[in-house]
Parts: sequence; C-alpha cells; structure tokens
Amino acid sequence: MKQSVKLIVGNWKMNGLAADLTGAVAEMLADLSARPASVRAGLCPPATLIDRMVRAIEGGLIEVGGQDCRVETKGAFTGGVSAEMLADAGATMVILGHSERRQEFGESDALVSEKVGAALRAGLMPIICVGETLAQREAGEAVSVVRSQILGSLSDQLAGQDWALAYEPVWAIGTGLTPTLEQIAEIHAAARAAMVERLGEGGRAAPILYGGSVNPANARDILAVAEVGGALVGGASLKAADFLAIIRAA
Ligand code: 13P
Repeated sequence: MKQSVKLIVGNWKMNGLAADLTGAVAEMLADLSARPASVRAGLCPPATLIDRMVRAIEGGLIEVGGQDCRVETKGAFTGGVSAEMLADAGATMVILGHSERRQEFGESDALVSEKVGAALRAGLMPIICVGETLAQREAGEAVSVVRSQILGSLSDQLAGQDWALAYEPVWAIGTGLTPTLEQIAEIHAAARAAMVERLGEGGRAAPILYGGSVNPANARDILAVAEVGGALVGGASLKAADFLAIIRAA
C-alpha cells in the first residue's frame, strides 16, 4: 500500500522575531523552491509572526499555523487569540493540547476537545497533542494515558476532516531523549486503536505525528516506523538546515 505524504510541522514555541523571516525561513524557501519537498510542511510561529510569515511564504511551500487558540470566537478575553483570528492571519493549522499548555496552563482533555471544535469551525487543521510523563511511563501507564487523552481530547466533529494527532512523550521534549523505535511503534498502534475507538472508521485517516527531540540524525528511522505519519519538531525547526534535513528524510 502506498503511504500518503508525511506531514512535517515545526513548533517554534515562544521563539521567533521578524529577522527569522529573512534568515531561517528565507533559507528554507530557497531550498524548497529549488527542490520541492515530497512532504506537507508547516511552521507554527508565535501568533505575532503568523501574518508576516504567511506573506513571506508566498506560493504555499510551507503552511503556517498557530500554537493554540481559545474556544470563543471573540470577546473579553485579554491576551486571547481565537481560531478565527489565526485563520484571518492566514494560518491553515493549529497545534492544540501541547503538553506545555496542559502542564503550564492546566488544559484538560475536555478543553482541548472544545478547542478542536473551534479550530474546525474556523477551517483550521487541528494537530492534537498527547503524551505521557516520565513517571507515567515508568509506572507502565504510557499506553493507558495516551488512550485516555485521545478519548477525551478528540471531538465527534473530526470524522472526515483534515486533522492530525501528535504523540509527544513529555520526557522526550527538549531533552535529546527519544523512545526506542519499538516504543514509538507500540504507542502509535495504540493511538490508532484509540482514534478508531473514539471516532469509528473516521479515526483511520488522520496521520499520527511523532514529536520529541526529532533531529536530522534520528528523523529517517523514526519516520519509517509503522503508523508514524510525520513529525512535530520543536528546537530543530528553528534552524533551516536541520528542518530541511528532517523534511528531506521523510
Ligand atoms: P523538541 O523537538 O524541541 O523536543 O520539541 C518537541 C515539541 O514539543 C514539538 O511540539
């Protein structure tokens, strides 16, 4: 069976200034326009850069996304950004339920599920993040934690839509540690089963990205694992050469 194209998304987190558009992003674009990628690529900069990044990436070689959104369309929510605002700025995707938001802002599965509805309402592709902590893995709970996060964070509205799941073990984020390929295969298979448990046949099509210390040296092996439909890349997506190498490894 032919595999569909991989989805490689960079999460810039709270990094990125205008200078990065003429630096790293320009370098990525020059390379990708000279030799088109065989993947679907996206970059999720801070909200302040979305509009300018969309303008810098004319021709859509790389899609641009947000890192979070509120559930509401608009209103008295100081500091908030709605899915409609991201779409209005030119975003086509949005990361939801990242572990940094779950941990730092106490985001629950139920809230993430509501945000998924908001993203779909605005026409954005939700990228829904799940993943266990080190303590949960050591307690043998990785599969059950991920299954429960998936059952709680998805929304009935996802069936038939353009969306992705991202498995990001919390202990692998920004640490240089990665699960073994066998551990990745185990969780991705369990994640697929939970997606189908939650959405029926509608849970089969969405790609499952792996995220957590993906770099040019490990990308090829990770992306070749069964049920790994792409990667969600943090630190390495800030450097043009590294992000391009990951794109070329897919
Ligand atoms: P790193 O690639 O820096 O480990 O970050 C992963 C991540 O959190 C992407 O969302």
